Amino acid sequence: MASEPSATPMTLTTVVASTRPGRVGRSVADWFTARAAEYDGFESHLVDLRELALPFYDEPHPPALRQYTRSHTVEWSRIVDASDAFVFVTPEYNGGFPAR
Ligand SMILES: Cc1cc2nc3c(=O)[nH]c(=O)nc-3n(C[C@H](O)[C@H](O)[C@H](O)COP(=O)(O)O)c2cc1C
Repeated sequence: MASEPSATPMTLTTVVASTRPGRVGRSVADWFTARAAEYDGFESHLVDLRELALPFYDEPHPPALRQYTRSHTVEWSRIVDASDAFVFVTPEYNGGFPAR
């Protein structure tokens, strides 16, 4: 028996993972987000890590405790909680994906 389509569309978050000056990743992610928005099954959002500006190691507690003290960490956690699926538009630098 076929299941009914969900009344609540899935939330798809596209993450721009390059923060590099002169990056091309943002334009690729903008293009993909617009294409994804054409499908009714998704609510399509874009998150740009350059705009979110998550620094390294500025929370005093381990992430597993979820005791965040910084507004950017709280915002990132909220985005992750609200998302059902992710697309990471990431470059490859020196054989790996960038940490920021
Ligand atoms: C410093 C640097 C290192 C790179 N290393 C690799 C690599 O190891 N393998 C690869 O396939 N491409 C590599 N590239 C190419 C990038 O992955 C590619 O240009 C990508 O589109 C960059 O994304 P961005 O412009 O959004 O930062 C490198 C580019 C740079 C600037």
